[in-house]
Amino acid sequence: MNTASPAGLRRPDGPAKLTGTARYAADTPAHGAAYAILVGATVPTGRLTALHTEAARGAPGVSAVLTAEDLPDMPLGPLVQPLPMRRSRNGAIDYEGQPIAIVLADGWERARYAAGLVRADYADTRRPVVFDEAPDAVEREPLLSPPDETKGDVAAGLAAAHTVVSATYTTADRHHSPMEPSATYARWDGDRLTVHDSVQSIGLTQLALSTAFGVPFESVRVICPFIGGGFGCKGYVWPHQLLTAAAAKVTGRPVKLALTRTQMFTSCGHQPTTRQTVTLGADARGRLTALRHTSANAASLHGDHAEGATEASTWMYASPAIEVRRRIRHTDRPEPTPMRAPHQGPGMFALESAMDELAYATGIDPVELRLRNEPETDPLTGRPFSSRELRACLLRAADRFGWRDRTPEPRSMRDGDELIGWGMAAATMDTFRFAATARVRVDADGHVRVECGTQEIGTGLPGVIATIASDVLGTDPDAVEVRFGDTELPPAWMTAGSSATMGVGSAVYAAATELKEKLKELGVSGMGFAGSLGAAGFLEAEAGWGPEEGSDLAGRSRTYSMHTYGAVFAEVRVDDELGLVRVARCTAGYAAGRIINPLTARSQMTGGLAWGIGQALLENSRFDGYFGRFVSKNLAGYTVPVNADIPELDVFFVDDHDPHAGPLGAKGIGELGAVGAGAAIANAVFHATGKRLRDVPMGIAEVMAAGAAR
Ligand code: MOS
Repeated sequence: MNTASPAGLRRPDGPAKLTGTARYAADTPAHGAAYAILVGATVPTGRLTALHTEAARGAPGVSAVLTAEDLPDMPLGPLVQPLPMRRSRNGAIDYEGQPIAIVLADGWERARYAAGLVRADYADTRRPVVFDEAPDAVEREPLLSPPDETKGDVAAGLAAAHTVVSATYTTADRHHSPMEPSATYARWDGDRLTVHDSVQSIGLTQLALSTAFGVPFESVRVICPFIGGGFGCKGYVWPHQLLTAAAAKVTGRPVKLALTRTQMFTSCGHQPTTRQTVTLGADARGRLTALRHTSANAASLHGDHAEGATEASTWMYASPAIEVRRRIRHTDRPEPTPMRAPHQGPGMFALESAMDELAYATGIDPVELRLRNEPETDPLTGRPFSSRELRACLLRAADRFGWRDRTPEPRSMRDGDELIGWGMAAATMDTFRFAATARVRVDADGHVRVECGTQEIGTGLPGVIATIASDVLGTDPDAVEVRFGDTELPPAWMTAGSSATMGVGSAVYAAATELKEKLKELGVSGMGFAGSLGAAGFLEAEAGWGPEEGSDLAGRSRTYSMHTYGAVFAEVRVDDELGLVRVARCTAGYAAGRIINPLTARSQMTGGLAWGIGQALLENSRFDGYFGRFVSKNLAGYTVPVNADIPELDVFFVDDHDPHAGPLGAKGIGELGAVGAGAAIANAVFHATGKRLRDVPMGIAEVMAAGAAR
């Protein structure tokens, strides 16, 4: 296949989004539908002893108030989050915000008003178990990887080290906060269920609904062309989706539900807080003699969500001894879930902060320290790297940033009242790969259509699909029609783990290649088909792609050490009087296999850097340990970066081609950008102030409390 063509600059999903004609789940025409609002528990523990629904039932426009007793039993399939209304039938309350009733009315505002009239009585509430007090526990069934991994003798490596650094780092609870809150429309026609949803996998939703209602898989149709942001909170299946379909079944009419912004803080996951300790030993030349990384994250009482924060520490740096340990702590809170750059986002903050501490302790430049510890093969498993261009990322990004002009001494760079800090960190991300199928069809008039049951989450996947198909067929990409977001189309798996270009892209590539072969057999070359496609007047091919046998559940290779890499350099300016930290500029270079669409690829990375700035400086969902609830369930109290927080971002890609990840040579990019930036900023704050802040986000109060400002 050719390198990314100028055609890759197109964004076919753009006009519909800009003109408002793109239809999101809550835009589904609701003829005859009831609008639903969930009522959540106001306590985090205890038992529900009574529900008072009379006032709500009597409110204007209300058609029903459903409680657990009104709903059918709903068995859960894989990756479905616990269905709390079923537990609340026995009265058990597991977290604040747990659904205890559904109010249906003839308008969303009326449903919302009535929901506010529902009163509940609780008993046996107790003091919530919170993260800092919960004991470490092991996941019951580790989903992704073993929680403990060891190579060599870490104790011996530390004893033999010339320099040892060891410190504990924490990352905060964070919420996904997509622009489009989760929304579901459900309609039953006899035993057939049609759902319009905002989800990262229509196939998983279809499976969950068919399992829950005991109807054949084919009887459930899920439609989701556009997602107004997901970042992981729409990756699995959550209670509101099953409850909407159940309410439609029970009442015999379509139901449309949209979570309120407040409910987005309790009802579809969050990135759990982590507490991590990294210990590094190095010889006199800065080469690691031992690496130990342990992590614990908050989980819900009944869930097992594990933040794989220690994983990257097994493949980043050469060390004769490596030991990682991952634990969860069961607490009284809603279930966490993956969030953009799961695992490596929180984990690399700790590892890359520790590497910076080692650089200062040994007096070796942070870039040089990383180059000296660049491994030949995977440090833990010895597997070959499928491709690894970290060295090029480090050197080129350092050069573009002007790193050589840095004076290493903390507090040595200043501009008036502002302390200037330059910091850097490496980035890496797992390569998750999911199977997909696609159908490509060409009509006698040359019209090309690609169909794939994937979702457009905002990354511009339709443009990538059109680019790949047109490159193979030699057609005009603007003439390629792309259909997606419907379970009636050839199935694809999740839009998650930065995997869509690899999975969906490879399937489109395979189908287009097969179609090209068929055309060749017919003696058709070029795109002047007229009359040559036989009686049907069209020709089509369907093909699939999936990770090779032996890959793990998430499509990660077990033959190669297969990851993406990057290097992030940040300049911060710290107000020496006020402790205010501003990111002034940022240069980041990435190696993620072949880049199919430079425009959308760049926008993924700048978006990721904005996430990193949020992680380092702003995003913190404070959890009230007394009331057992997230405090600020809105975007005023939960701050995310706005345009004014984001400086000019200099992003580039180094040449990379991964022949093992898939036929395109591409790897995933989406989440890589959200890794590394947090540590680069924290390291820059140390360089500016001479104070090491090991807990993110570092707000003004934290910077002042650390005495980082004067
Ligand atoms: Mo992502 S957290 O894999 O949607």
